[in-house]
Amino acid sequence: MSDAPAALTDTAPHGTAPPDTALPDTDPPRTTPHDIAPHTSAPADGTTVADTPVSGPTAEQPRLGPTGRPLPDLPVPAPLELHGPARVIAMCNQKGGVGKTTTTISLGASLAEYGRRVLLVDFDPQGSLSVGLGFNPSALQGTVYNLLMERTTRLEDVICKTNVDGMDLLPSNIDLSAAEVQLVTEVAREQALARVLRPALDDYDVILIDCQPSLGLLTINALTAADGVVVPLECEYFALRGVALLTETIAKVTERLNPRLRIDGLLATMYDSRTLHGREVLKTLVDGWGDAVFHTVIRRTVKFSDSTVAGEPITSYAPGSAGADAYRQLAREVLVRCHEG
Ligand SMILES: Nc1ncnc2c1ncn2[C@@H]1O[C@H](COP(=O)(O)OP(=O)(O)OP(=O)(O)O)[C@@H](O)[C@H]1O
Ligand SMILES: [Mg+2]
Repeated sequence: MSDAPAALTDTAPHGTAPPDTALPDTDPPRTTPHDIAPHTSAPADGTTVADTPVSGPTAEQPRLGPTGRPLPDLPVPAPLELHGPARVIAMCNQKGGVGKTTTTISLGASLAEYGRRVLLVDFDPQGSLSVGLGFNPSALQGTVYNLLMERTTRLEDVICKTNVDGMDLLPSNIDLSAAEVQLVTEVAREQALARVLRPALDDYDVILIDCQPSLGLLTINALTAADGVVVPLECEYFALRGVALLTETIAKVTERLNPRLRIDGLLATMYDSRTLHGREVLKTLVDGWGDAVFHTVIRRTVKFSDSTVAGEPITSYAPGSAGADAYRQLAREVLVRCHEG
């Protein structure tokens, strides 16, 4: 899983890439971003359901999903009698604005709808996850920063209940940016988050960590604490740049710090099936990464920005929307992939 497919390892044409794109990387597909395909049936607001088949099923033909592969059976998960120990999943991509925070909130809320106990960890000093759930970062009593840096702060002093039943939040704010500097001189600096989360493992079924857009020490901490990584990727021109660097970092963490870490899946976000460009990016992703790509694809819709402004997950802000359904499907797919079905 750690080796990037050949299609994604072409060196970028310019030699002065910034540090997070300097390693072998992919060339984006050469199409114009606004290349609209004429034969689409998607509605103008882009709110088609995530699993709309690209071709209808026949007796011989299985139903194909948006990634062009046959859709697997994704059963509604059975209720749990007992909870924990949690599977820890880091939402990770050093590229900004690809849907990490949106996926953390929406996937978490969908898993909670299916009766899973969920803890969301805001591990980005921007505090977007906390804001997206209606919290004011500057008015928080305590944050994940206090847990990381002060031995006297307990998890229960900092965890907040959200408006979603069964979903809690470990909030964060700009204080966390200091932790990145302060942790450098600490013993076992990469294990700080894992240590903080250990007492929570038995209380939750899933812990989702929303990472900041960088591969610095905070993200290394998230990967060290995690069992799996979900990589959201915007279906856009430069989406695949940096994936090789990310997987290389994941491989290093697996080798040196956390042997149980694996890539749970790559998630295509902000997909617009009406554009040839969007379809080509998705195809390149599937050609390169095969089954590592989730069958669920998240389409572009303004409902996500609207729900962020409202400070609630799309599953409660617009419960009947295609975006909410897409994340419910992702929740089922994540549970199946993690053998929990
Ligand atoms: N499927 C989608 N369709 C349309 N807009 C979306 C979608 N997913 C997310 N967005 C919007 O895109 C913006 C960036 O999303 P988000 O904050 O989740 O990305 P991020 O990867 O967490 O960003 P950062 O790297 O800055 O933390 C937000 O305004 C969000 O509302
Ligand atoms: Mg974010």
